[in-house]
Amino acid sequence: MKSALIQSRRQSIAVALAQTRQLSLDLFTQIDQSLFFKQAHPEFSPIGWHFGHIAFTEAYWILESLAGLPPSFCEYQGLFAADGLPKHERQNLPSPATIKDYLHTVRAKTLDYLATAPIGQEERLWQWLVQHESQHAETISFIWQLHQQRKYNLSSIDFGQAKSQVGCDLLKPSANDYAEMVIVEAGEVIMGSNAIAALDNERPAHKLHLDTYWIDRYPVTCSQYSQFMTAGGYQKRQYWSKSGWQWLQQNPVDQPLYWSNSSDWLDHPVYGVSYYEAEAYANFARKRLPTEAEWSKAAFGSSDNCNHSRLIGHTTPVNTYPNLSKYGCQDMLGNVWEWTASWFAGYPGFAHYPYQGYSEVYFDQQHRVLKGGSWATSSAALRTSFRNWYHPEVRQIFAGFRCAKD
Ligand code: AVJ
Ligand code: FE
Repeated sequence: MKSALIQSRRQSIAVALAQTRQLSLDLFTQIDQSLFFKQAHPEFSPIGWHFGHIAFTEAYWILESLAGLPPSFCEYQGLFAADGLPKHERQNLPSPATIKDYLHTVRAKTLDYLATAPIGQEERLWQWLVQHESQHAETISFIWQLHQQRKYNLSSIDFGQAKSQVGCDLLKPSANDYAEMVIVEAGEVIMGSNAIAALDNERPAHKLHLDTYWIDRYPVTCSQYSQFMTAGGYQKRQYWSKSGWQWLQQNPVDQPLYWSNSSDWLDHPVYGVSYYEAEAYANFARKRLPTEAEWSKAAFGSSDNCNHSRLIGHTTPVNTYPNLSKYGCQDMLGNVWEWTASWFAGYPGFAHYPYQGYSEVYFDQQHRVLKGGSWATSSAALRTSFRNWYHPEVRQIFAGFRCAKD
């Protein structure tokens, strides 16, 4: 490659590293340090562990693997490696100040190395590292939200605004304002991406044929979802799949994890729902969840002018941003992740990168694909080809959904 081109790539990696780190450090500063080593939920490590793991991963892949430096901070190997301690034993960690120092020390060496690194051959790993950090920052965001909910002992989250009276608010006439669907005519969809920043699970880009279908123009709003709740959605077996009903019996809930009865939130997307709740709502509405391919085609041409990177700090009404896709769908990117009906699996020709445990071990018919990113997703991971994956019962992530039909 020409050296001017190399220089500009080096520069853009430096910018991406800095932007992503800024978001992580903003979180570090905002979060009450007494929460750093508390587990908010058995499925998730404490916040402090995530910060240490961010530094550890950078040291492992850049300093050791690319730069060939000898391992440093060897005592952290057992602590911050993803396959180190079990999650519930990750509470006994170095102090927040020590972890911050770890982040800074590793980053200084990383930037030293970047100054002369042969990034022509290494760019994919650098891009991967940026996205790795940005995904952990989002995980920190929802662990923090869980802690806040617990601290104030809220059954539903008070999003920082005065709550109005419960009950009649839900019947406000705006209930059907965002129920509109758009048609997507039969034809091809391009799935995935071969871009340098594309993760292993997004590759290779390939075409599929889809029959004509309809899809919601907007994510399902709190107003729409409240109709399901009012209709006894959480009590009536008929709306739930077999595994969904089983889940509900074992985890009795009657509203989303992130929910407010204030009318201020009626035109926001519902979120904090499991896949099973999304599926039950879709049955109630006589619709279904879109497949990943259907979601992807409907998202074609979406602008990333949306609610992301914690710029707002919570969800926004679904008609806030002019970011329509070619088919007229809004908020495909940002605001809330969207559950799809598809199991997470490798595309034809999948090759793992940079290690098998990154995506491939999750191709197990136990994880559903989520698309689009949330209000807490940084721009590094904000693209329509990005694939997220979680167990269908997970509600702690910032996930909502939209529906489709034949
Ligand atoms: C894609 C968000 C499910 O956090 O478990 C981070 C990303 N992989 N470190 C996760 C990931 C390794 C992953 N998710
Ligand atoms: Fe990780």
